Order: sequence, then C-alpha cells, then structure tokens
Amino acid sequence: MPQPVSAPLSDLLAALSDPAIVVDVEAGIAAYNRPAETLFTGLKAQETLSLALRDPDALAGVAGVLAGGEAVELEHVRHAPDARVFLLRIAPLRDIGALLLFRDVSEARRIEKMRVDFVANASHELRTPLAALIGAVDTLLGPARNDAAAQTTFLAMMREQAQRMRRLVDDLLSLSRIESKGAVVPSDRIDLVAVANEACDMLSGLAAEHSTMIERRFGAEPALILGDRDEMVRLLENLIENAIRHGRLGGRVAIAVTRGAGSVDLAVTDDGPGIAPRHIPRLTERFYRAEPRDGRGRTGTGLGLAIVKHILQRHRGRLSIESEVGQGSTFRVRLPAAPEA
Ligand SMILES: Nc1ncnc2c1ncn2[C@@H]1O[C@H](COP(=O)(O)OP(=O)(O)O)[C@@H](O)[C@H]1O
Ligand SMILES: [Mg+2]
Repeated sequence: MPQPVSAPLSDLLAALSDPAIVVDVEAGIAAYNRPAETLFTGLKAQETLSLALRDPDALAGVAGVLAGGEAVELEHVRHAPDARVFLLRIAPLRDIGALLLFRDVSEARRIEKMRVDFVANASHELRTPLAALIGAVDTLLGPARNDAAAQTTFLAMMREQAQRMRRLVDDLLSLSRIESKGAVVPSDRIDLVAVANEACDMLSGLAAEHSTMIERRFGAEPALILGDRDEMVRLLENLIENAIRHGRLGGRVAIAVTRGAGSVDLAVTDDGPGIAPRHIPRLTERFYRAEPRDGRGRTGTGLGLAIVKHILQRHRGRLSIESEVGQGSTFRVRLPAAPEA
C-alpha cells in the first residue's frame, strides 16, 4: 500500500524553488509544489505520472528508481509553451516512492552556446586573413621569388591582412576588457561635448580619405554625464567611423550633442545607403555585418556596435537606430545626465 505523504515532506516540497514531484511506489502522483504545478498544467494528485509527464526517458528513469535503482539524472526538454531544457534528478524516497526534481538549465545552455559560437566566429574571422597571409608567403617563396613587382604587390597585401588581424585582436580585447568591468557605473564627471570634439578630430583623416564632410552640431557649452571618458571616446569613434565607412563617398556626417530633461543625447547621422529594417535589430551582435561580402565597408571587424552596446550597458545608456534605405542612418544614444554638482 502506498503511504500518504507526511506533513514534513510537503513542507519540504513547498520550500523548494525548483519544480518537484513526489510519486508513490506505483508511479502515482503523491505530491508536488507550486513551481511543478506551473510547469505541468495537467498535474493532479492520485493520477499516474505518465499523464502529466510525457517523456519516455524520464518515465523509464522513474520506473528504474522505483524498482530499487539508484538516483539518476537526465535531460528533460520542453518544447511548448517555450523551449526549455531541464536537468531532471530522480531519487528514491524510502517507503514513499521517488522524488523528481527539475532544474531549469536553459539559460546556462544558452550562454554556453553563445560562448561556443563566439569562439567559432572569432577563429573563423582570424583564419581568413591568416590563410591569405600564408598564401602570399608561399607565393613569395615560390613563383614570385625573382619578381620584384609581384613582391611589392604581395607585401602590400600581406600588410593589409596583418593589419586586419590586428584590428580584430584589438577589438576582441576591448570587448573583453569592457565586459570584465561588469555593471559598475563609472563615476567621473565628463563632458560629452569635449568627447565629441576629440572623436571628430581623431577621425578627420579617415573623413578626408572618404571625402566626407564632418559637421559638428554642438556648441561650447558642456554636456555632463557620469562616465568613463576613454570608453565614451571609443563609442563615438565607432559610430562616426561607421558613418564614414558605411556612408556615402563624398557624403556628410553630422554629430549632434543635445541636453534633454535629465539626459544627454548624441546623434550620428549620415546620408549613406542606409540599412534594411531586417538587419537593424541584429547590428549589435558580435560579427554581424549587414553589407554584402564585397561591400566597401567590409574591412571592419563587425565588433564595433557590439562594443558600443557594452559601453552603453555600463553607462545605463540606450542606443536606437533609425534608417531609411537610400537616405541614410541615424544612430542615437541617450545617457543619463550627471546630477547637478
Ligand atoms: N552608418 C551606417 N550605415 C550603414 N550601415 C551601417 C552603419 N553603421 C553600421 N552599419 C552596418 O552595421 C554593421 C555592424 O557595424 P559594426 O559592428 O561597427 O561592424 P563593422 O563596422 O566592423 O562592419 C556594419 O557591418 C554595417 O553593415
Ligand atoms: Mg564599425
């Protein structure tokens, strides 16, 4: 005869934050807690477990434990209402039956997958210029050994590929440096007008190369925020560089700094080809590029906007992107203004 579940046991179940179900020796549902009720809507005491838990592996696990086996752990995947992965532990309860404990590992799996994808993407991005470099070295050692003109061409190409690798490594390092600082909000009072001036000055050379006009739409009056100055320069540099590189040759890039109610707003606007709406939500993903493989802006690492996003997370800022294909794009940043001194 199955024993009724004692009061201490139901208290114990109620104290668990993970879904938990106790079954009797005949795999009938004896007790469960509220999280389990939320997870399995059809759960009913006294009913057989297989009605609520439609997972043959889990049911076989329960049968094994009830037949005197040791505790087992297995994966339980739920597809509806949303995809979730649980680690299910089934442990014997002497004289009672068995305990099923579900631990949601979806988030851990998602982070693990992101990490694996990231390493794969980073390696792939590095391998392309590396293959080009090795190919060029082989040519210089072989067919082009005595060809001075070819040597000059190949060396120039090698330098370009090596620089590309350096940009990638630099961007990867800044990304990890910003991430490692975590969520601590920087506390220095900095002036975004001065930061904007500095970023514009730094990019005047690149703008000249692309015959781009840089328009500074801000006055001399400071716009103060609490922030990390170097990171803010970096952020604006990335946005302005994008506006130049992905914008129109001979185009115009405007940088505005405005003080709002409790905030400071930055806007970087170009009159380039713009971005199709389907790309916009994904632009801050690492290595995501909207342009075709042979586009003019393909020389970038695809990490610039991921860096921008991380800098903004630390500064409690927000990024919004507006673009109309054929007209241009505006990247807007809103940051909390520094409190009055
Ligand atoms: N101002 C812009 N105009 C058009 N496309 C842009 C602009 N800024 C960014 N993009 C698109 O967003 C992608 C991601 O930008 P980013 O992360 O800085 O990488 P990268 O510039 O190295 O390619 C770019 O590859 C480009 O397709
Ligand atoms: Mg970029």
